Amino acid sequence: MQTSQHVFDQYEGHDVTAFQLTNDNGVSATILSQGGLIHEFNAPTADGGHQNVLLSYPTTADYYTNPFYVNMAIGTAAGRTKAAKFVIDGKQVDVTANEGRNTLHGGPHGFSSVNWDGQTAVTDAGATLTLTHHFEGGAGEFPAMDVTITYVLDANNTLSLTYTATSEAPTVFNPTQHVYFNLTGADSIRQQVLQLNTTRHLDVDAEKLPTGDYLDNAGTPFDFSKPTVLGDAIDGMQNTTEKGFDDIFEVKPDADNTIARLSDPDSQLAVTIHSSRNGLVVFTANSFTDDMNLTIGHGKPNMGVALEAQNLSDATRLPQFGDITLKPGEEKSYTIGYHLSF
Ligand code: GAL
Repeated sequence: MQTSQHVFDQYEGHDVTAFQLTNDNGVSATILSQGGLIHEFNAPTADGGHQNVLLSYPTTADYYTNPFYVNMAIGTAAGRTKAAKFVIDGKQVDVTANEGRNTLHGGPHGFSSVNWDGQTAVTDAGATLTLTHHFEGGAGEFPAMDVTITYVLDANNTLSLTYTATSEAPTVFNPTQHVYFNLTGADSIRQQVLQLNTTRHLDVDAEKLPTGDYLDNAGTPFDFSKPTVLGDAIDGMQNTTEKGFDDIFEVKPDADNTIARLSDPDSQLAVTIHSSRNGLVVFTANSFTDDMNLTIGHGKPNMGVALEAQNLSDATRLPQFGDITLKPGEEKSYTIGYHLSF
């Protein structure tokens, strides 16, 4: 187990630090202080090299040239908050809209926007990075919050992210990591195979806001109950505006919190996602464009698949989705695990 760090580059006038976590099996993860983003998650290959299972960009600035939040930490509220407001205990909090009249992924000053302080260590749990940030709050902002994200790479090839927050005023807390997987580095994930522990997904309106209704997956392209070739499922979505998936699945964690597994049939590579929460967004990068200069090439539809473990979004408006509130005096933590097999 080891950790290291170096100055990665500069972004908006400050140094961006790259923190690397490595285990004894040759698995490594590189996390940037900017946006808490996972720059690379590498599996060792038979020829002594490594395979990055995530989409990546060469520089920090590249990650911010498009609206796709590639691999970034997302919070305080993943997904869309309708009309940039939420109500807790009868009190309305107004925040800033950044997608039409709605607030997407925690708004313009969310977890993805800041340069976090970082500290590495090797502990009994594994190679560890702790990122911390105090969010100031103020008019148009989510209430002030202290947030910690701990990234642990363990001896069993699991990278776990634990998001912990406290706030002095009632707020929402529904963090995720916007990781885009591509297990092989091919220019499309159509050959890769996805299985999800879900029977329903959410109905959404034209603004992609959940209506509160659930739709059954069975008998539709949304049925990922068995390992399913993504290209086949995407072909079944060609009559939708999105021409692919950008959907919120209601997931049922197994005894070990497994909610999803992505695998490549041609190699031994697979990622299993563990989360105790009830939501997973699947976004097949349908709107990626040629002007995106990723390390594996120009952006194109279906170049990666974002698998975003979270609570069903906007749950203060739709309480049937569960509780995403964070109250003064409370500390809440959520963990997402990505287990790599190879
Ligand atoms: C997803 C969302 C998509 C898109 C993407 C980031 O979570 O569902 O509509 O906004 O994030 O670009």
